[in-house]
Amino acid sequence: MRILGIETSCDETGIAIYDDEQGIMAHRLYSQIAVHADYGGVVPELASRDHVRKTIPLIKEVLAEANLTPKDLDGVAYTAGPGLVGALLVGCSIGRSLAYGWDLPAVPVHHMEGHLLAPMLEDNAPEFPFVALLVSGGHTMLVRVDGIGQYELLGESVDDAAGEAFDKTAKLLGLDYPGGPALSKMAEQGQVGRFKLPRPMTDRPGLDFSFSGLKTAASTLIRKETGESCQLSDEQRKQTYADIACAFQQAVVDTLAIKCKRALQQCDLKRLVIAGGVSANTSLREKLAITTKKLGGEVFYPRPEFCTDNGAMIAYAGLQRLKAGTDTDLTFKATPRWPLDSLPAI
Ligand code: KG4
Ligand code: ZN
Repeated sequence: MRILGIETSCDETGIAIYDDEQGIMAHRLYSQIAVHADYGGVVPELASRDHVRKTIPLIKEVLAEANLTPKDLDGVAYTAGPGLVGALLVGCSIGRSLAYGWDLPAVPVHHMEGHLLAPMLEDNAPEFPFVALLVSGGHTMLVRVDGIGQYELLGESVDDAAGEAFDKTAKLLGLDYPGGPALSKMAEQGQVGRFKLPRPMTDRPGLDFSFSGLKTAASTLIRKETGESCQLSDEQRKQTYADIACAFQQAVVDTLAIKCKRALQQCDLKRLVIAGGVSANTSLREKLAITTKKLGGEVFYPRPEFCTDNGAMIAYAGLQRLKAGTDTDLTFKATPRWPLDSLPAI
């Protein structure tokens, strides 16, 4: 079976064709970074308009690259939510219209299920059950996964998502949108241990997260150490920014690692999956490799390009849902708010 996947939930247009015997046959990603950079964040209306421009040309490109025609497909999967409603509507309407025109089933996919299953696209795919840490720009969740659709939410962020905290702190450090990868790069130049920021909600039981206080602590530190009264040379200011970036990243990484360890112990599981944009963070990957090894376990993650939004994860998740007989009726659906644990089990 072979399916076309369409991802348009936020600021990336991702298109892919996945075949359950041949794997990913073609994929394309167009990032809207340049569109939103001047505004310091995603402008929803601009995102929708850009998806309108890019989706069809990218679909043509992946079909050509895979040397396929629509007749060679068994379905069209599209991200139905969660995400920006206008952006979702573009993928939904194009996906459903193509499915109608091509006489194929249209498969609505949950964006976070796509992220969660992205490690299945790798050679070293995890077996069920496992604990998944989903860390993106909009979500921070720990989930016990017993099978596709068998999701028990163990904990989530009560305020900002981890990626959002990265992006907001990066902005305070003068870095361009999207700040996560830029902050991580800056942190490489930082001196470990010069500053220490809190590890929120780790001193009490539970698996929820809170990152907005950490961002505020970083903001206070930036003002204290680099404010006008500090009279720093350009070089000193640059180094102080890098040291703060390093302290911030360490605080997020430690906090996530402490909760992952707790979740694995609570569930008595050894396999940990990390997915979503922040799982591309090298420091987080290294830390979680050590954490799971100490527990006699293993960590699984997608290749970096499939950590952030992409069409391949949507095609993969869509194919699993299609095979399981999901509802493919053509009624128009875009679901900006959609709890992961409300999905039916396969
Ligand atoms: O999954 P994703 O592409 O989109 C959403 O579904 O939100 O995640 C994007 C988030 C952004 O906040 C971005 O700054 C963050 O992932 N991110 C990173 C890194 N790469 C992407 N954060 C920290 N380190 C990175 N290397
Ligand atoms: Zn995402």
